[in-house]
Amino acid sequence: GVSNVKLNNGVLMPEVGLGTWKAHEQGTLRETVKAALGMGYRHIDCAKYYGNQREIGDALKEAGVPRKDLFITSKIFENRHRPELVAGALDEILDELQLEYLDLLLVHWPYALNPEIDHDDFTANDLDDVPIMDTWRAMETLIGTGKVRAIGVSNFNRSILQRMLPQCRVRPAVNQIEVHPYNPEHKLVGYCQANDIAVTGYCPLGGGRVDVLGDSTIQRIAAAHGCSPAQVLISWQVARGIAAIPKSNNESRLKQNLQTVTLTLDEMQAIGQITARQRKVDPSRNTPELRWVFHEDEAKCPLI
Ligand code: A2P
Repeated sequence: GVSNVKLNNGVLMPEVGLGTWKAHEQGTLRETVKAALGMGYRHIDCAKYYGNQREIGDALKEAGVPRKDLFITSKIFENRHRPELVAGALDEILDELQLEYLDLLLVHWPYALNPEIDHDDFTANDLDDVPIMDTWRAMETLIGTGKVRAIGVSNFNRSILQRMLPQCRVRPAVNQIEVHPYNPEHKLVGYCQANDIAVTGYCPLGGGRVDVLGDSTIQRIAAAHGCSPAQVLISWQVARGIAAIPKSNNESRLKQNLQTVTLTLDEMQAIGQITARQRKVDPSRNTPELRWVFHEDEAKCPLI
């Protein structure tokens, strides 16, 4: 079976999960989720924004894996950051997934959008100036409701976390960020792990855009192990103590992605020293006012 990462509140999170962003575009998401559960996936990463939670909920029901054996993550969209909207946002998610509770609820992005904006084709005019700590305090109150086992954040940089942590009654259990060898986030991962915030890395295979699967170092190491480049990428993350949530619509690749290999220290270092840099997700989201989201040393976050 898949090993677990222990969160700062004792909850166990399987270190390999299934990503579902855009996973419904080929029309096979329900079958993919059922196939994944059948081969041993227990951790499914969802979000309100992905627009496919009802189909995932259907698949979870049909697969019949006991609820307590699953680890289901979802994320509130940026238009639900006002504190009075947070509990309702969770209820909407639970309704779509047809679940009584989530294992992990994340704040999807550190900035807020006006409540009526329900898509990410927005401009600076659509931003809402909700302090992130107001949203977080509303997240903290969810813990007592029995509807979430852990709460966390996503796409949060060091500067924001550094200023949040002293004010948190419940510290984020997880920060979910883009991680692969072309966006290794050495400093941010180190900061999170030193502060007992587990890291989940999204787009571990480069998200179909960043060509880490074709990287020569990755290919060389894959050949040495007789495994695929994807397995090297996932194994590298897991060896760093980072959960990985690769996405696939193909049964044999889904299966392959659960099978990690043990990399040598030299191999870990060689991957860590790759110097190419490229992200899949646009840091500024096409909005210059949001440049601070990924520029942790600028400390421009206006939200606290
Ligand atoms: P497919 O669904 O056809 O398998 P990420 O998880 O980084 O977002 O990357 C997802 C992309 O990587 C998808 O295009 C997916 O395509 C592809 N992919 C998933 N698993 C593998 C694998 N084991 N080998 C090669 N490509 C993979």
